[in-house]
Amino acid sequence: MTQPAQIQVTTAERITTIRFDRPDKKNAITLDMYAALVAALAAAAADPAVRAVVIAGSRDCFTAGNDLGDFMRAAQGGGGNVTAPLDFLRAIATFEKPVVAAVAGVAIGIGTTVLLHCDLVYAAPNARFKTPFVDLALVPEAGSSILLPALVGARRAAQLLLLGEQLDAPTALAWGLVNSVADDADAAAHAAAVRLAACPPSALRATKALTRRTSRDAVLEAIRVEGEAFAERLRSPEAMEALQAFMARRPADFSRF
Ligand code: COA
Repeated sequence: MTQPAQIQVTTAERITTIRFDRPDKKNAITLDMYAALVAALAAAAADPAVRAVVIAGSRDCFTAGNDLGDFMRAAQGGGGNVTAPLDFLRAIATFEKPVVAAVAGVAIGIGTTVLLHCDLVYAAPNARFKTPFVDLALVPEAGSSILLPALVGARRAAQLLLLGEQLDAPTALAWGLVNSVADDADAAAHAAAVRLAACPPSALRATKALTRRTSRDAVLEAIRVEGEAFAERLRSPEAMEALQAFMARRPADFSRF
């Protein structure tokens, strides 16, 4: 049987919509899905008819983040397209057209950090945001070690990155992580994308480039440095304990480290 795509890509009204579609695993992102995301962004970048991109999940789930089975395989030195996650981060961090996100349900790990690279973010009332890297004995990725403190402040970033606290939609709005909370986040994101698609495209791209001019190189450098630390942490006994605990549906025990 053919594997379902798990990343749905549609283009209409000059808008490319990229949708996580792996509902049985809470839209957790596999290496193949990262590769599909890279391809979708490249196609949207290359097509002059595409003026904006929307990233969305399903009604009850944006994404539960990186596939933890893939993390386990990477920790054990497994293969696959291991550069795909970093390729995706670099692609979204340097994407020149506007990107709008619609978040319903959980946005965990990269589900939250990817939003730092989106220009506009609309959350459903059931949206929940969490970056439990330390809980998994890992470190932040996607440039979030600099982008999150810059966006929400150092104290609040510590709540997210050190304590791994979960934010509900109203708190995410109050902290400036999202633009608004809408009953239908998909519709709100689509409406924003329609407005962007009607804008003069070169002025829009130039404006986006200007807003990121001073941070772009620092973000790419953060993605690189975080990636090295992440790979090192992933191979650690602490991470193995965290991943085995998730698979066994038991609390992790870090008392022996
Ligand atoms: N990677 C791989 N599989 C995942 C996953 C992930 N990140 N998140 C969820 N799943 C899978 C579960 O293993 C389960 O699979 P199964 O039905 O074959 O056992 C299925 O998705 C449903 O998840 P479940 O935990 O039963 O649903 P829930 O509603 O009780 O909880 C979450 C949902 C998202 C809160 C919980 O699954 C979770 O915390 N996931 C891990 C998130 C995470 O740490 N991501 C990495 C961040 S760096």
